[in-house]
Formats: sequence, C-alpha cells, structure tokens
Amino acid sequence: MNNFQFKNPTKIIFGKDTIKEITTEIPKDAKVLLLFGGGSIKKNGVYNQVKEALKTVEVVEFGGIPANPEYSLLLDALKVIKDEKITYLLAVGGGSVIDGTKFLSAAVLYDGETPWDILTNNIRTEKGMPFGTVLTMPATGSEMNSGAVITRRETKEKLAMGGPGLFPEFSVLDPQVITSIPQRQLANGLADSFTHVLEQYMTYPVGGLLQDRFAESILQTIIEVAPKVLKDPTDYKAAANYMWSCTMALNGLIQQGVPGDWAVHGIGHELTALFGIDHARTLAIIAPSHYAFNFEAKKEKLAQYAERVWNVTTGSTDKKAQAGIDKTVTFFHELGIDTKLSEYTKDYEGTAEIIAKRFTERGWLGLGEHQSLSPKNVEEIVKMAY
Ligand code: NZQ
Ligand code: ZN
Repeated sequence: MNNFQFKNPTKIIFGKDTIKEITTEIPKDAKVLLLFGGGSIKKNGVYNQVKEALKTVEVVEFGGIPANPEYSLLLDALKVIKDEKITYLLAVGGGSVIDGTKFLSAAVLYDGETPWDILTNNIRTEKGMPFGTVLTMPATGSEMNSGAVITRRETKEKLAMGGPGLFPEFSVLDPQVITSIPQRQLANGLADSFTHVLEQYMTYPVGGLLQDRFAESILQTIIEVAPKVLKDPTDYKAAANYMWSCTMALNGLIQQGVPGDWAVHGIGHELTALFGIDHARTLAIIAPSHYAFNFEAKKEKLAQYAERVWNVTTGSTDKKAQAGIDKTVTFFHELGIDTKLSEYTKDYEGTAEIIAKRFTERGWLGLGEHQSLSPKNVEEIVKMAY
C-alpha cells in the first residue's frame, strides 16, 4: 500500500426529512446566496423546505445553473456575491450546481487576472468562501469532495479544479429527493458513481486489500440497487443505499494508498465539451475501450473485479479479465446507456484526432495510473469507442 494522508472535513447529514437541519449549520449572521439549477427544486418541494429552513437568515437567490455548469453564467453569480456582500453559499442541486458553487467559492477570493486561470493554470484553492450543499441528485460525490468541473461553451472546454479549501462544510443527503429524478438522470448517476469506483480500482494491485474490498462493495451495492432504483424511486431502502454509494464512491476514502487512473474522465470530459453528451454517458463510451486498450496493464485487477464483483469464477486470468469488460458493457446497457460514440452523434469522425491535439497542446502527455498514455494512445482509445 502507498503512503497517504487523508482528511475529509465535510459533515454529512443523512436521512429522511433532514433538509430542515441546515438551519443550525449556517451561521446566524450569514448573508446567504442560495444557488440552484433549472427549476426541478421548485417542482419537487425541495425549494420550499430550504426556504423554510433559511427563514432566520438573509437570503439572495441565483437560479438557472445548467447541467455542466457554465462559466459565463457563473460570472453573473460572482457579481451578485460581490454586489450583495454575500458571506455564505448554499448549493441546492446535483453535481452541476455544487461544482458551480465550488467555482464561486474559489473565484470570489481569487485575486488573479481572470477566474478562468483557476482552471487553465491548475490553481489549487487553499481557502474559499464557506458553503454547504443540499444534494438533490446522487451521482458525482461532489457533496463530499473538493473537486469541481466547469464548462465554457464559448471555447468548448470542460476543465477540472479543486483544492482543500473546496470541501463543503456540510451536505444534506435526504434520499427522498430521488423520487422526482427522471429515469435518464437516475441511470446517469448509477453509471457515473460506478465509473468513479472503477477509476480508483481498475489499475494494478498494490496490496490495498481493504481499499479493494471497499471498492468492490460499492460496486456490488450499485449493481444490487440499480434495477430497484430505476423501477421504483420511492423505494427508500434502495434510494438510501444508492445515495450513500454515490457519495462513498468519490469522497476520497477508496483512493487512499492506491493508484488512480482517471483517464476515462479526462477523455470523457472532451466528449461533453464537444458534443454536450451527458457526463456519465461519456464514461460508458470510453471505459470499455480504455480497458481493452490497456488490457495487459490492467488484467490482474480486471480479473479480480470479474471474480469478486460479477462471480466469474472459472477460466484463465485473461478470460476473466475479458469477462470483466463484457459485464461492464452489459451493465451500462441494462441501465439504458449506449456505449459507442456513433450512437450519440453522426459527426464522430475526427473526434479522436481533435482530443489528441487538445491534450498535446495542454501538455497532457501521460495519462492513467502509469502516466504513460500518450495523446496518440488516447486517439486510438477514442477510435475504438466510435
Ligand atoms: O437543473 P435542474 O432543474 O435542477 O435539473 C437537474 C438537471 O437537469 C436534474 N435534477 C437534479 N436533481 C433533481 C433533478 N430533477 C428532478 N429531481 C431532482 N431531485 O438533473 C439534471 C442533471 O443535474 P446535474 O447536476 O448536471 O447532474 P450530475 O449530478 O450528474 O452532475 C454532473 C456534473 O458534475 C460533474 C460533471 O462533469 C457534470 O458537469 N462532475 C463532478 C464531479 C465532482 N465534483 O467530483 C465528479 C464527476 O466525475 C463529474 O465530472
Ligand atoms: Zn464522473
């Protein structure tokens, strides 16, 4: 196992009817900016619960943050924070609203030329404006980690940022929120969280026995609850396990002491930036080709995954490893998610070259757990995913 340091300061408030708890989490003298998305919270009752809980503090609202939070719109929110002398941010939404809020938390204290530098120059945020979250969509784990991904439509870019100053102070996880999530988004959440675990697991063995089993148990739980959540989002037991699995998949725990890959996300973000494909679906497009391309380097973990997660108990290491890839593809299909780029766009020719060129220009010359995947390799992986 590799050396590590681990600190996660986010307080989780989990369970039925817990949104009201935010009253005691937000400082009494705070001036709060309540951030939300395209309006789902106004239809499902979450907005009313939040407003009720915020009755004793001053609140300004900023809605309309779209899926894949858009930089130009966030600059409008930044102006509101400054003009209104906001002291506390509250994100009420899914990963997009939470990530947008993290960007604002960082940007408001950033004194460089333009806040976009935070993304292009990889500036880590050591201290941001304090914020909390009310999660409405289990998927990204953003509610308990310090990362964010911001999109800039003008330049078709989608870039990541983060730093220890960007953990939410608290996150409310009431699994009842999932009852209003459309099927497509439920499937996205299942596929995204599943892939988060794979990114931290499907590398090579380093004797992280406990991390491996944490990872496998999250995968098994997602597989178990997926059909139940899709069939009946009011099934509280399934919803609660789905929500907690998504958070545990990317709150830092399972990555300690083991190598991480993250190439699937790196490449996937480009597909969202270029074609607007949902984040989770880009992962389902890239992951199978990525694992096939890196078969030799990953086959031991692929075989372990096939054996322990999918009960593939016979055959050679190679056979089991291949079965691991096949089972993953079948799982995505069972969620109703296509796994080839050509199933999402007719304009896929040339995509591989564009992505490889972008990575070269950014100096992203070695992706994956061995930092060995060149832009040329990335090009081949994307072509395999056509
Ligand atoms: O905008 P509204 O009207 O709220 O609708 C949203 C949105 O259309 C809807 N929704 C959310 N909760 C709902 C609901 N609809 C009905 N009932 C509810 N309770 O769902 C749609 C998608 O929401 P979004 O926040 O975009 O989804 P998700 O949580 O999947 O977030 C995706 C974003 O997070 C980034 C992705 O790249 C993408 O930009 N990620 C962030 C990560 C992180 N910070 O750690 C890691 C991930 O890998 C990912 O990259
Ligand atoms: Zn993801």
